[in-house]
Amino acid sequence: MPLKNINPTTTSAWKKLSNHFNEAKDFDLKDLFRKNKNRKADFSIEYSGLVFDYSKNLINQQAVDLLLELANEVDLKDAIEKYFSGDKINAIEDRAVLHTALRNTSEDPVYVDGKDVKPQIQSALRKVKSFSNKVISGKWKGFTGKSITDIVNIGVGGSDLGPDMVVEALQFYKNKLNTHFVSNVDGDHVSEVLKKLNPETTLFVIVSKTFTTQETITNANTIRNWFLNSATVFDVSKHFVAVSSNAEKVINFGIDKKNIFPMWNWVGGRFSLWSSVGLSISLSIGFDNFKELLNGAEEIDIHFKSADFDKNIPVILALLSIWYNNFFNSETELVLPYSEYLSKLPAYLQQAAMESNGKGVDRNGKEINYQTGTIIWGSTGVNMQHAFMQLVHQGTKLIPSDFIGYKESLHGLTDHHQKLMANYFAQMEALTFGKTKEEVHLELKLNNKKEDISRLLPYKLFKGNRPSNTILFKKLTPKSLGQLIAIYEHKIFTQGIIWNIYSYDQFGVELGKELAKKLLKN
Ligand code: F6P
Repeated sequence: MPLKNINPTTTSAWKKLSNHFNEAKDFDLKDLFRKNKNRKADFSIEYSGLVFDYSKNLINQQAVDLLLELANEVDLKDAIEKYFSGDKINAIEDRAVLHTALRNTSEDPVYVDGKDVKPQIQSALRKVKSFSNKVISGKWKGFTGKSITDIVNIGVGGSDLGPDMVVEALQFYKNKLNTHFVSNVDGDHVSEVLKKLNPETTLFVIVSKTFTTQETITNANTIRNWFLNSATVFDVSKHFVAVSSNAEKVINFGIDKKNIFPMWNWVGGRFSLWSSVGLSISLSIGFDNFKELLNGAEEIDIHFKSADFDKNIPVILALLSIWYNNFFNSETELVLPYSEYLSKLPAYLQQAAMESNGKGVDRNGKEINYQTGTIIWGSTGVNMQHAFMQLVHQGTKLIPSDFIGYKESLHGLTDHHQKLMANYFAQMEALTFGKTKEEVHLELKLNNKKEDISRLLPYKLFKGNRPSNTILFKKLTPKSLGQLIAIYEHKIFTQGIIWNIYSYDQFGVELGKELAKKLLKN
């Protein structure tokens, strides 16, 4: 069944939200916290070891109720049903969107075109497991009989950003294999990676759903030629494997049929790290940890499907984002992980969110006259505090921020972690409450002459009232990372449903590719 087709601006909830915004635009967070001593508890959700506190947003109960009414009016419940059950919600490409099936451990079948896809998923996972075990244990030998020491993932976009982000994020759990990523067609990228490698002990994983992507095939060919400087074509099967849905093209490239890991057209590239596309993750941290990542995501799938919307983390995140994007006219959103391990998360989420919801045509084929996809940006705390946070605290723009943190550190350097987390909470406090004229005045009085106080005061003032979300986990583990990623996946889905767009195609990336090909021919 197709998704429903409702222009959100024609709903009665939207009209009520527009009216309510006239009051909400003057909300003062200090005031809201003063009036409601339970505000933090009222606007927090705890689920499976994770705390989501959204009390520091420019909302009251009425705003939340109206946003929930909007979700109900566009029939989000029906859309979630269709999303999980394999309906072709990527309607323009006539495809189901089933990254959730990749981590679904229930006994229930999931049908695409009348066929249960679960057996294929399980068989692919078994293949990833046995291959990972062979390589990690050293049983898989290269062409001179040596075990593998290095893995190179060759892919771009969804075939690179997810695995790269996760391998980096979970390096605490990594085994002895070194994992590298080659994505850019810029030859400097592949050259620098190859410099570090020994062809006898390197395994190349070519990840391309289509196996036609110019960047990936160019890099794969360059690497194959580099390899053949030391080995023969008969050795390729020991050093090259592929993850793709295009077996014919993979075989033509010279890869053994046995070494092809499947990909399916019902999994979008940017949501594919849970499939064989995550092979380099499984190689880097072992299959059991990879499975834990999937388990964490499955927990969020269950939560998203079953929790009431007012207690549903991805739904609330999406609604808040719509509140700022469509009513406060915020254009951007910050993702701020207080963990150096998550330095690649903002780039990963940029693709996930912006390739999905950067759309200007609705499900009627009509140009949209309201705002859709927000611009995602960010960096790790605390480094960004010394970089762009000035603008977020005192600039002219309203930028809602997600602060992602962990109660416990992995390396046990308690002193570091206390400082990190003190900054995590302090930034949110500063954004929320700012510093009043009276407070600044008192401070200035201590060290300044009377005539300087009024001159300095405006510059030292923090208006506060800048929204932020607390997303706090116990510890960075494969499972909690799986939860985090799935939360954002479902937030993106929910936004697309409300904006009445198709989130799972990406025709906007095609024109540039076509023109580049034309230029190359001339
Ligand atoms: O950039 C567009 C895109 O199609 C992404 O959606 C995709 O993840 C990437 O290119 C790579 O595609 P492929 O896996 O087919 O090489």
